[in-house]
Amino acid sequence: MNRTQAEGRIRELRAAVRHHDYLYYVKDTPEVSDEVYDRLFHELTELEERFPDLRTPDSPTQRVAGTPLDRFPAVEHAAPLLSLDSSQDVGVLRRFDERLRKALGAAVSYVLEPKLDGASVELVYEQGMLVRASTRGDGRTGEGITENIRTIRTAPLRLRGDSTPPPSFLAVRGEVIMRAAAFERLNEGLLEQGKEPFANPRNAAAGSLRQLDPQVTAARPLDLYVYDVLEVEDEALTTQWMVLQALAHWGFPVNDLVHRAHTVDDVLAYHDELAAQRDDLAYEIDGVVVKLDDLAAREEVGETSRHPRWAFAFKFAPRKEVTRVLAIVPSVGRTGVVTPVAMLRPVELAGVTVSRASLHNREEVARKDIREGDRVRVQRAGDVIPQVVERLAEPGRRRARRFHMPDACPSCGTPLVERGPFTVCPNSFECPAQLAGRIQHFASRDALDIEGLGEETAKLLVGNGLVRQLPDLFDLQPDQLVTLEGFADKSAAKLVHGIQRASAVELHRLLLGLGIPEVGLAVANDLARHFRSIEAVRSATPEQLETVPGVGPKMSEQIAGFFRNARHAELIDRLLKKLTVRETPGVAIPVLDGIKIVLTGGLERLSRREAKALIESLGGRVTSTVSAETGYLVHGTNPGSKYGDAETLGVPMLSEVEFLDLLRSKGVGI
Ligand code: IVH
Repeated sequence: MNRTQAEGRIRELRAAVRHHDYLYYVKDTPEVSDEVYDRLFHELTELEERFPDLRTPDSPTQRVAGTPLDRFPAVEHAAPLLSLDSSQDVGVLRRFDERLRKALGAAVSYVLEPKLDGASVELVYEQGMLVRASTRGDGRTGEGITENIRTIRTAPLRLRGDSTPPPSFLAVRGEVIMRAAAFERLNEGLLEQGKEPFANPRNAAAGSLRQLDPQVTAARPLDLYVYDVLEVEDEALTTQWMVLQALAHWGFPVNDLVHRAHTVDDVLAYHDELAAQRDDLAYEIDGVVVKLDDLAAREEVGETSRHPRWAFAFKFAPRKEVTRVLAIVPSVGRTGVVTPVAMLRPVELAGVTVSRASLHNREEVARKDIREGDRVRVQRAGDVIPQVVERLAEPGRRRARRFHMPDACPSCGTPLVERGPFTVCPNSFECPAQLAGRIQHFASRDALDIEGLGEETAKLLVGNGLVRQLPDLFDLQPDQLVTLEGFADKSAAKLVHGIQRASAVELHRLLLGLGIPEVGLAVANDLARHFRSIEAVRSATPEQLETVPGVGPKMSEQIAGFFRNARHAELIDRLLKKLTVRETPGVAIPVLDGIKIVLTGGLERLSRREAKALIESLGGRVTSTVSAETGYLVHGTNPGSKYGDAETLGVPMLSEVEFLDLLRSKGVGI
């Protein structure tokens, strides 16, 4: 085959592969078998290898072609990616509808779409070719993730334009999601590798998109739905319904549950219908987006600084499910607190399978009167650990006996002691369950950050007697590890290497990793910057500790008490022989120095954990109740009663976006 013949054949093959990709991934109606498809794809790959100069970026063989980046470039959006006003309150929906009717006269029509729970993105096409893709960022500027978007099979690298040529410029907005089954598989894999699983499919989608190496993103099962045209050249689109049709025509995946409506009652009916289907959908949705259909009318009503006035997210109530308590098992955490855990008949809840829920402490179990065998309602709100909300009465059923905390530690047999509502094993570092928890904490991301040392591995190390005390970690040899389940030569060598590398540690990471009561990321940072050496922290008196901003009398006693304990002292001495402790470098800009912040409602940009870590890294503190000392209340969607408390006390209130803007305005690079 000569070059000219190859060129022709390549063109044919690309068109065929693209067509079958579209049918398979977007329409879910494949026309040919996998073998036929593979043959076409291989022929194309081979021809492109023989004639590399004929390879083009829009070829279906070039989805995973980028090289790792150092950082994401900033990309300005074609039009702002606004966020939606939202509520789960019907009254708020009615007011939204009334306002529009007043502004526009009686006849309004809406397009209703499922509110997809993923990460918002912009995709830009020039002359029909995907040239740029970015995350939402602050709504005006996002991060350039073009190579990562290219790896998503449903994202067209080039627009379909059956008969008409595609527009010369097109910017669209959509949502990158991870389907529930794919999410579960991903998390299982992460857990096996000793990595932290994602809290929900939304975080998994957002986290996977923000990988500097497109190879990593390519291995993540992402999907896309497109729902908005931000800007288009030479196309007369007048309604959202037309927009959705045009998007589908160009080859974008458009959600098939979209609907048209005219009244609030229509919206309510659709909302109920979707809510009922929610558990059977392959992906997470968290409400209904109500959009004015007429695009000219949208212009007329305009937008506030944050939300368009023409759209509204009518959210679902938090996910609740009914299941049965199979057993109540006392579980010993890293601090020795014994928590009664309800083992549940597995149930799907907000995109994840829930099989256990914390019952907190013995008083909580007694108050809710939860016993083995009971039917209970469980809920997951945002990223929070599942909770048992209540027991459902089952008249006539014989119930099991009340749950009682054991007298001895289920892990080491030491008699348990009561501290307030909590039950505690006093055997600290010697108790295997606590030791495993402490190892996991010691190795966690913000502490020594030892890759591959998660919960499962920590338990294995302790259970097999390879680590009897924390410092033993640094004596581990690969040949000991290969005897453990799930370890091979390579993984064993990798873990040992990871542990050795972590032995050069910054002081604040060590302080955090020791698991001193009350010492989180912010306090560990403050202590490290103030005392500058582990010896100085260890020998500090409670009075000296209290001179550190943010350390109160109770905390200073706890810290000093931890270091005074003879067993801890011996352990730290041993540990220090294995470590090189480095001074903590001057931490970011402490723009929130000492400011107390209360979070309420569902955050969309950050998980609770991320928000807390961010605030603490900037010197602020997250507290749970609003008082006159609260610096800011940061509210997400469906804020709780704290919102009212803050209003009453006159505490400054910021939405999540406003809060992030405030930090940016102070020079924080987020
Ligand atoms: S339209 C200005 N439609 O919900 C209107 N958003 O703040 C722009 N979302 O981050 C949004 N499904 O990413 C729209 N069908 C849908 C959506 C949707 C999910 C997300 C969007 C945004 C959030 C609302």
